[in-house]
Amino acid sequence: MKKGSKNLSKKALFITFEGIDGCGKSTQLDLAAKYLETKGIDLIKTRDPGGTPLGCKIREILLNYDGNVASYCELFLYLADRAQHVEEKILPALKLKKLVLCDRYVDSTMAYQGYARGLGAEQILNLNNIVAKSLMPDLTFVFDVSLETSRQRVGDKKDRLESEADEFHKKVREGYLDLAEKFPERIVIIDANKDISEVEKNVIEVLNKRVL
Ligand code: TMP
Repeated sequence: MKKGSKNLSKKALFITFEGIDGCGKSTQLDLAAKYLETKGIDLIKTRDPGGTPLGCKIREILLNYDGNVASYCELFLYLADRAQHVEEKILPALKLKKLVLCDRYVDSTMAYQGYARGLGAEQILNLNNIVAKSLMPDLTFVFDVSLETSRQRVGDKKDRLESEADEFHKKVREGYLDLAEKFPERIVIIDANKDISEVEKNVIEVLNKRVL
């Protein structure tokens, strides 16, 4: 822990940033990290998939493979990445009482593979508990944007998932909203249609209550 860092043992330590593609979560993760660092918080930033060297290889397949990918193959690749990520990076950081800010985690798997691919969110949560040693986030931000805004922000250069039809992304978004109803203590919905600094303000309000 950095000199002067706060002891976070009773506060949210594992925080995830979620939402449909183009929702602005990665920008908000960076802004949140900067804010927390100014408050003396010792943290790491990471992402899912691709938070480890092995995970980067899995991410490359997941986002860029241009042939057919069976839904369960996709699911287990995301879970394989997560198993490595949790064991190699997230749990060791949490053990050191570092705050972990993670760009996507299990809610992405539930929203994308569970709701949008139709594999079932509950089954995915069970599988995640196996591969991720039951590690769940203490706090999750879901950045909610309209499909139109998401499509505009993603632009024309799309990866394999971004290239899915609007109907798929609509189901992902509905999945997130449903998850937020199921886990109200953990998931906070942020209206991400607003401009960056407005969204940042809303995130900081939550961080002030739940982390600092
Ligand atoms: P990113 O571009 O936000 O890093 O996310 C990579 C893509 O992978 C994004 O389209 C969401 C998707 N994804 C899933 O489908 N399932 C998952 O479990 C995760 C973590 C991401």
